[in-house]
Amino acid sequence: MNTLTKLVLGAMGALRPAPSHGDAARSIQLPPPELGGGMGLMEALTLRHSSREYRSEPLPLPMLSSLLWAADGVNRDGAGRTAPSALDAREIDIVVALPDGAYRFDPAAHALELLAAADLRRVTGYQDFVDDAPLDLVYIADHSRMKAVPVAQRTVYASVATGAIAQNVYLFCAASGLSTVLRAWINREAIAHALGLAPDQEVLLSQTVGFPPGLNRPTARSRAPRSPMPICGIYAPETTPPWCASAIRAAATRASRRSSRAQKCRLASSVAPT
Ligand SMILES: Cc1cc2nc3c(=O)[nH]c(=O)nc-3n(C[C@H](O)[C@H](O)[C@H](O)COP(=O)(O)O)c2cc1C
Repeated sequence: MNTLTKLVLGAMGALRPAPSHGDAARSIQLPPPELGGGMGLMEALTLRHSSREYRSEPLPLPMLSSLLWAADGVNRDGAGRTAPSALDAREIDIVVALPDGAYRFDPAAHALELLAAADLRRVTGYQDFVDDAPLDLVYIADHSRMKAVPVAQRTVYASVATGAIAQNVYLFCAASGLSTVLRAWINREAIAHALGLAPDQEVLLSQTVGFPPGLNRPTARSRAPRSPMPICGIYAPETTPPWCASAIRAAATRASRRSSRAQKCRLASSVAPT
């Protein structure tokens, strides 16, 4: 689904998941993460970047396992995590949107629990590549776990914790020949609806992961060229504010190749106020 269609459906409150592509298991026990070897930290930092082009090929389960462990897995006795959280609240849930269904990553069990037997990928962001990339992560803050944090600080602290997790994912991807991009241009209401979230659960950010087009072995020279940032500098919340108008106009221009001029004008004027 293209960006413009998502924006229109989002504005109508009608951005919904696609049907599941298979039989979603109720839970998936992940194999142990691969903790040995791998690329050095400094080389991974050298390769870290955002990508917006993906193959649809799924991640092998062992790779998904290691990715999620790197993101926020248990790395110590006593259930310490790879990412920090204020007062060790561990308030961030990682939702793993796969073609078969959307799952919550359970770090303690190192398993996935089914939340929705549908393909939520297209709901996880306005950019078109999120629909076909094999994996979109959604970071959700559970405010009920942050009782010790002052209310006014909860979203800030949870956002910082999400940033730490997201950077873990970036580094894992850099070291594993995977592409990724953290995304804030998402429809939080549509995601919350699709996942049936409680009022205490706040959708913060999404992150796409997948193999890049072409070779997937990470080397300094194989670093994919950066795609131009398709949208303006700050990222849109649920509505479509004027500062995203240029991106929407670009989407409308692309849509004009597929639809009649009159239809394009109607769409552009309805979603892209200047
Ligand atoms: C909080 C945050 C939100 C972002 N949201 C988006 C987004 O919605 N879409 C997107 O394509 N990139 C998004 N990005 C990625 C940035 O555009 C990217 O990090 C920046 O252009 C620098 O490029 P680099 O990551 O390759 O160094 C976001 C990054 C951050 C930290």
